[in-house]
Amino acid sequence: MADRSPAPDSPELRERWGGFEFTDAYRAKADKAIARYPEGRQRSAVMPLLDLAQRQVGEETDTQGWLPLPVIEYVADYLDMPVIRVLEVATFYFMYNMQPVGKFHVQVCGTTPCMLRGSDALFETCKARGMKKGHVSDDGLWTLTEVECMGNCATAPMVQINDDNYEDLTSERLDAVLDALAAGESPKPGTQEPGRHTSEPAGGPTTLTEMVDANHDYRDSW
Ligand code: FES
Repeated sequence: MADRSPAPDSPELRERWGGFEFTDAYRAKADKAIARYPEGRQRSAVMPLLDLAQRQVGEETDTQGWLPLPVIEYVADYLDMPVIRVLEVATFYFMYNMQPVGKFHVQVCGTTPCMLRGSDALFETCKARGMKKGHVSDDGLWTLTEVECMGNCATAPMVQINDDNYEDLTSERLDAVLDALAAGESPKPGTQEPGRHTSEPAGGPTTLTEMVDANHDYRDSW
């Protein structure tokens, strides 16, 4: 479980982030998110606005982004909300980073289906590259976090890295993904199992087989 506490408030933090404001591009996205809600309900946009703020911080720091306290206060002010209400949301959801992270945030699922399918080996692969849970690696590239089920159990074990999931992993396959990311490439997200497209049964379909190539009416067989 990652630490959900906000980074300590300090003069350095205020100095770096106290003047945070959305850029024109991010402001346009924020206002579009707010406009989805009825008048008086603009606070409902708190989650997309926190996400946008984190992405802008990420762009400014060449990392996956995080939420320093002054940035959270900016979002609260933008939505005319008490800061504590925004902080409650930010600290609850894992999609928000409360501490600085590396360029790539490697979130390894350690819940039972992934654990039974080899997530321990994936943690070892990450550690062999100098990743340590909750820390930014010395080269600034990686932060490792253990997370709970990410809903990809059918293609376990899996890892989420920034906005993409990589599934059906082995140590070797994860190494290949990490090598590609470190080299500035964009490895194919999703299953890494050769011949598998999404989460269909490994080895081909076992039910509704007549539907593979064309629509088929099964009603007579019910
Ligand atoms: S247990 Fe890992 S995705 Fe569900």
